[in-house]
Amino acid sequence: MFETGSHDGRTTREGIRIHAREDFACMHRAGQVAARILDDIAEHVFPGQTTGELDRLITEMVAAHGATSATIGYRGYQHASCISVNHVVCHGIPGSPIPPSKHEGRGRGNDVLIDGDILNIDVTVIVDGWFGDTSRMFVAGRPKPFAERLVKVTHDALMKGIEAVRPGNTFGDIGHAIQAYVEAQRMSVVRDFCGHGLGRVFHAPPNVLHYGRPGREATLEEGMFFTIEPMVNLGRPETKVLADDWTAITRDRALSAQFEHSVGVTASGVDIFTLSPAGRFYPSMG
Ligand code: MF3
Ligand code: CO
Ligand code: CO
Repeated sequence: MFETGSHDGRTTREGIRIHAREDFACMHRAGQVAARILDDIAEHVFPGQTTGELDRLITEMVAAHGATSATIGYRGYQHASCISVNHVVCHGIPGSPIPPSKHEGRGRGNDVLIDGDILNIDVTVIVDGWFGDTSRMFVAGRPKPFAERLVKVTHDALMKGIEAVRPGNTFGDIGHAIQAYVEAQRMSVVRDFCGHGLGRVFHAPPNVLHYGRPGREATLEEGMFFTIEPMVNLGRPETKVLADDWTAITRDRALSAQFEHSVGVTASGVDIFTLSPAGRFYPSMG
């Protein structure tokens, strides 16, 4: 027998796993736990709250669902969420001091949210061995108009990417849809981080780029599962990772936002596994 390294299904020549019809229900269960946790954390986001406390609550919620955190113990990471405030692009560490933004000379030196902060909360859970990975933006208090606009453009960019998901389209079509929309709004797409295949693993092929050209990259097939998770900056796209080896910030320290869904390619289009059960995916909803 020829050992392919997979115990069922098949993988494409790009190494992308093709899942079975019955696997969609498993992904839906995992995705809905992650999405429900983001629904439930919303009421805890307010000025004066700390990112450390938000992560503590998320850790409890993961356990209450009988799920496992995919991020605790992942490459040495120790938290059930990433919380990325203002100009933090991704992988912000809950409980760590919020790094100084362009507008705050010395920084606040703590993890306390203040009025007008925008923050991404990213949660990945494992349910019965399947991974659900989703993130959205939240606002502490009242957003500044430019911050609100960034959040809306980033959300809409993710949905434009998802609209390009159907068999026969390519990953380049997804990236192009996102990039074209974001740049038309005079904002920029981060190149240094991408979406990823997932399923019974956290990060698998392909790299899902949030920029690109129509018709490029691998062709989408029914049964592919992956995330789309564009990061959009108000300034330039360049990022840098801080000395903690996780926190990525914008080099120009201008604001950044991100939304993430886990999706599957169906025969006719797309199945979004991480839709908000409460319809609260975008901050102003509900
Ligand atoms: N959930 C993140 C993603 O979208 C990964 C976080 S890995 C961590 O891929 F270790 F930083 F938590
Ligand atoms: Co992800
Ligand atoms: Co994520």
